[in-house]
Amino acid sequence: MVDLSEISKVLDLEELEKTRVKLLGKNGVITQKFKELKNVAPEKKKEVAKELNELKEKALALIAEKKQELEEKLLEEQLKKEKIDVTSFVPKATGAMHPITETMNKIIDFFTKLNFSVETGPLVEDDFHNFEALNLPKYHPARDMQDTFYFKDGTLLRTHTSPVQIRTMKKQKPPIRMISPGAVFRRDYDLTHTPMFHQVEGLVVDEAGKVSFANLKFILESFLIHMFGDVKVRFRPSFFPFTEPSAEVDISCIFCEGKGCRVCSHTGWLEVLGCGVVDPNVFKAVRYENVSGYAFGLGVERFAMLLHRINDLRSMYEGDIRLMEQFK
Ligand code: PHE
Repeated sequence: MVDLSEISKVLDLEELEKTRVKLLGKNGVITQKFKELKNVAPEKKKEVAKELNELKEKALALIAEKKQELEEKLLEEQLKKEKIDVTSFVPKATGAMHPITETMNKIIDFFTKLNFSVETGPLVEDDFHNFEALNLPKYHPARDMQDTFYFKDGTLLRTHTSPVQIRTMKKQKPPIRMISPGAVFRRDYDLTHTPMFHQVEGLVVDEAGKVSFANLKFILESFLIHMFGDVKVRFRPSFFPFTEPSAEVDISCIFCEGKGCRVCSHTGWLEVLGCGVVDPNVFKAVRYENVSGYAFGLGVERFAMLLHRINDLRSMYEGDIRLMEQFK
């Protein structure tokens, strides 16, 4: 009879495979016995064939069982080898300011020195503050650009910091001179977009005629030079439902002389913020009369990417210590 006990003595997967071939391969011992069936006397054939089949089934079962056992052992060994002791002392891990925070602080610093107050608002917003009051009625096509995450009760993750304009105007009388930094959310994910990112909003409101596009232009130009140094600034006509006229602001692409910079477009200009003169419908929504104002909004990640020449924004949120080490 064929001895199956050697299967249980096998020590690794390679040896197991060899044993399998030896028993059940093309020229294996059991295979051979099947071939010899034709020489068995006809009256005994049925019985011998049955025994042979049982032997084969048994061999297969033992091999499968052994295989599982060996694979589990292997995995266990591997896990043991790759175990990371997260409590072990890492002398270099002393913590550092996250580049987004650092950039945010630099932005806030500029505006607070110019007497802007810092306001905040909820991340979970209602339709009125995030859209309606900003002259973005239901079914307005511009809502498409800001696809977001909705809750069952109709509230949503705010898509921009502009609702803080509304909240601040509702609780305060003009004049207003505020910025609002914070997280915002959109359904977006690629090299330059993460579903959560940060904006800084700006709003200035005063008596009618006191605040103009010229003021807006001056303050933003000064701001961009504060952030980026010697850049050229360009205002390009654009559209936002909550400002009229509206503009997008570009800076000249001083960052991409070197290789590997993917943030700059071929035009040599780079869009960094949106702005405009506050639309009368926004003032109507908060019952402000005889006022004028300007507003702007910028994406902090875009600024941080430029300042640190970061190509893949997603790396900012992976918490890889090797990356963060570089920002000390
Ligand atoms: N809220 C706009 C956006 O997220 C930016 C913006 C703010 C534009 C204020 C104009 C005025 O795209």
